[in-house]
Amino acid sequence: MSESAPLIELEDLRRVYRTETVETHALGGIDLVIERGEYVTIEGPSGCGKSTLLTILGLLDEPTSGEYRLAGVPVNEIDAEERARLRNREIGFIFQSFNLIPEMTVEENVELPLLYRRGVTAAERREAVAAALERVGMSHRARHHPNQLSGGQQQRVAVARALVGNPSLILAGEPTGNLDTANGDQLMDLLDRLCMPKARR
Ligand SMILES: Nc1ncnc2c1ncn2[C@@H]1O[C@H](COP(=O)(O)OP(=O)(O)OP(=O)(O)O)[C@@H](O)[C@H]1O
Ligand SMILES: [Mg+2]
Repeated sequence: MSESAPLIELEDLRRVYRTETVETHALGGIDLVIERGEYVTIEGPSGCGKSTLLTILGLLDEPTSGEYRLAGVPVNEIDAEERARLRNREIGFIFQSFNLIPEMTVEENVELPLLYRRGVTAAERREAVAAALERVGMSHRARHHPNQLSGGQQQRVAVARALVGNPSLILAGEPTGNLDTANGDQLMDLLDRLCMPKARR
């Protein structure tokens, strides 16, 4: 890990999907540098490779060729265990479909990323969960279950879960896709605020 290296560096990154009959070049050689603190939107027509890129950036899939360095770490050179640790430590995910676990309360959902981390005490987890819920304005629903919340509220809980472990990178795949315009605008305002330097929040 390096604090001075760019957060994300891609060099000639390619992803080819092969089936028995067809070869799809989903990513055809991407060069990209994203610095810490940057807020980047990826746009493009359906099928251009946005989701493919996001799953590779999130360490959920590997490129066919090319280089991906996350905070200076060449992620194609590390083993699966180290990759999982890096994913848990450095990346928070927000999905279009919220992906909250229905059997768990709001606070249990938000706590999840911390349960996979070694050396975090129960007291530290409780404090981090409370702070994350506070940041998204959902403290008053901590004991509710996801199905007792509106869509906009569920997505704000998902944002809290993405934030709770203080990751270097938050990846959001069409996070407003299942929200109406008002809730979608509110979510984007929230993300804007969370991405600002602390002094301006
Ligand atoms: N598992 C797969 N096997 C084969 N081809 C795939 C697979 N996943 C994606 N593709 C192909 O790769 C290309 C990029 O797909 P991807 O899902 O990344 O596009 P996208 O930009 O996210 O599109 P959308 O805006 O519709 O979500 C498409 O041509 C798609 O058909
Ligand atoms: Mg997609």
